[in-house]
Amino acid sequence: MAILHPPFKGGIKGEFRGISFKLRMFSTRRLCLWYHSPMTDILIKGRSLTLRTVTPNDTEAILGVYRACEDFLVLGPEPKASLEMVQKDLETSRQEGGCFCGIFDAVGQLVGVVDFIPFGFEGKPDTAFFSLIMIAVPSRNQGTGNKTISLIEKEIIKDKQITEIRSAVQVNNPAAIRFWQKNGYRIVSGPELQPDTTIVYRLRKKLV
Ligand SMILES: CC(C)(COP(=O)(O)OP(=O)(O)OC[C@H]1O[C@@H](n2cnc3c(N)ncnc32)[C@H](O)[C@@H]1OP(=O)(O)O)[C@@H](O)C(=O)NCCC(=O)NCCS
Repeated sequence: MAILHPPFKGGIKGEFRGISFKLRMFSTRRLCLWYHSPMTDILIKGRSLTLRTVTPNDTEAILGVYRACEDFLVLGPEPKASLEMVQKDLETSRQEGGCFCGIFDAVGQLVGVVDFIPFGFEGKPDTAFFSLIMIAVPSRNQGTGNKTISLIEKEIIKDKQITEIRSAVQVNNPAAIRFWQKNGYRIVSGPELQPDTTIVYRLRKKLV
């Protein structure tokens, strides 16, 4: 039997067979259920990249990455990077059971950020989700994005339950659409209006 805790902002928390979950209003139309595990620290070392959970000490550097991605932010409702935007994204990730990681190059410099939900996206224990990937302009087109996705996919599929990874991409971001398609993600919806006014295609990569 599920144990429900008092409501938190935007939904309810609870436990079912020892697994805690959150039931959260994602928008007025959709009710999403995320199982969420205790906060896990991620450390993935590739040959030329390290991905690790960010800490409060990284906040200024993350803001630098956001500023170096304003060509992307301008496609959405908030064109300018700010500390509030960074903090909001970190908090949203935490609430959704996400893993918000920094992408560090060979000399330890933060060159990008990636946020993903390793399992339980929209209440499906077999589904993971990429919420965000941003590589700072000077570090783009060097293979960092592709390597990041590949390293995280390898980590995600260690959980044998996972059968698919989802993401979403703004319809007005053709470079990102190409990026996801080259990484094996297919567009599986028509354009969908989001509560933040962006219009996105849903993406899916089947693993089995
Ligand atoms: C989309 C995004 C994450 C891609 O990241 P990236 O690091 O530039 O991507 P990559 O370098 O791995 O791949 C892009 C291209 O770089 C080139 N490239 C790849 N490896 C390379 C290497 N080792 N050396 C030189 N160039 C390389 C290739 O042309 C590659 O395209 P290909 O896969 O068709 O060959 C990045 O452009 C970005 O942050 N954009 C803004 C934010 C955004 O749109 N995010 C997605 C939201 S859904």
